[in-house]
Amino acid sequence: MAIELKNRIGILTSGGDCSGLNSVIRSAYIRAKTLGYELVGIRRGMSGLAASNQDYVVLSESICDASLLTTSGSVLLSDTKWISNELKTTGKTPADIRKDVVEGYKKLDLGALICVGGDGSLSLFYELLVNEPEINFVIVPKTIDNDVANTDFSVGFHTAINVVADAVENIISTAKSHERTMVIEIMGRDAGYIAMYAGVATGADAILVPEFKCSIDGLRKKVKSVYDSGLNHCIVLVAESVSLDGFSHKDAFVDGVIKYSSTKYCGIGEYISAKLNEFGIESRSVTLGHVQRGGRTAVFDRLIASAFGISAVNCIHVGEFGKMLGFEHNTVKTIDVKSLNCNFNRKLPPSDLCLQIANMTNTYVGEV
Ligand code: F6P
Repeated sequence: MAIELKNRIGILTSGGDCSGLNSVIRSAYIRAKTLGYELVGIRRGMSGLAASNQDYVVLSESICDASLLTTSGSVLLSDTKWISNELKTTGKTPADIRKDVVEGYKKLDLGALICVGGDGSLSLFYELLVNEPEINFVIVPKTIDNDVANTDFSVGFHTAINVVADAVENIISTAKSHERTMVIEIMGRDAGYIAMYAGVATGADAILVPEFKCSIDGLRKKVKSVYDSGLNHCIVLVAESVSLDGFSHKDAFVDGVIKYSSTKYCGIGEYISAKLNEFGIESRSVTLGHVQRGGRTAVFDRLIASAFGISAVNCIHVGEFGKMLGFEHNTVKTIDVKSLNCNFNRKLPPSDLCLQIANMTNTYVGEV
């Protein structure tokens, strides 16, 4: 049953971008329009909602045309630094910032807000949810890392693994011509989903992920066995946050408030490649970096993103707030965000299907 609601809904994208964000925006726009709501796109995440900084656009047919289905990035832009910068430079407290955001929500006369974010943004939305009940939230999970708990897949993951698989295939030809071991460093923050799925899909010889202990010695033996088997090259995928044999990631930067901080991972691919060269194995490293956040949106991402956008508006229409959407068994489910007790993050479990495939195909994945 439809509830009495102001006829304006806001939507914002928060945190690192990924493919599929625009598909969420487009489908939410179409569903909102069908149900008689105006959809307001907030620019640069929470920063564009805050009263002191307000920046938005009323979404329209021309902005939300079908090209959004295939285009990476976010037409609404995204921001990862506004809160930490405010805390650092203005002397505001987290409560001041929340007040600014609530004031902005009221100023825009919104009845509800669709937040598209990853696990970091979820913590921020949670803070708002528990402290500022005036904001009616629905949260859509997105991230190339696929590390948001309570959903099989996040928007953006499938495009990222396609992009990585294409890149690995391009690297295999040069690895063969030069009889080298190529070490490819993959994003994913503290989870190994991208490396594991793209590695299995391309037949990588070794896939190193932060969830399972691995060693240079174990890898060296694997590489040697690959050459001994008659192959002339070897492909190693390593997730960016892997630490081994003394290699530790330096905190490239830490923001003012620890809960909004992020560690920049880099260097493990180069380190492993250097070690292999020391053992007489000719090796080069490639860091794929931010190409993993772009690319033509994978069909599966377009589909789940569209399902999420529609479901978010449907939730709002029936007054289901404070929910996160998840994708499980080919359907969209809703989860009460408060019931998650701040457990927004997940890692690759030992039961993961791709990990099982890797094990059964003799891929080195460390000491699982
Ligand atoms: O969370 C998505 C992600 O692309 C991670 O895989 C990566 O560690 C991080 O963001 C990079 O962040 P930035 O764009 O701030 O360098």
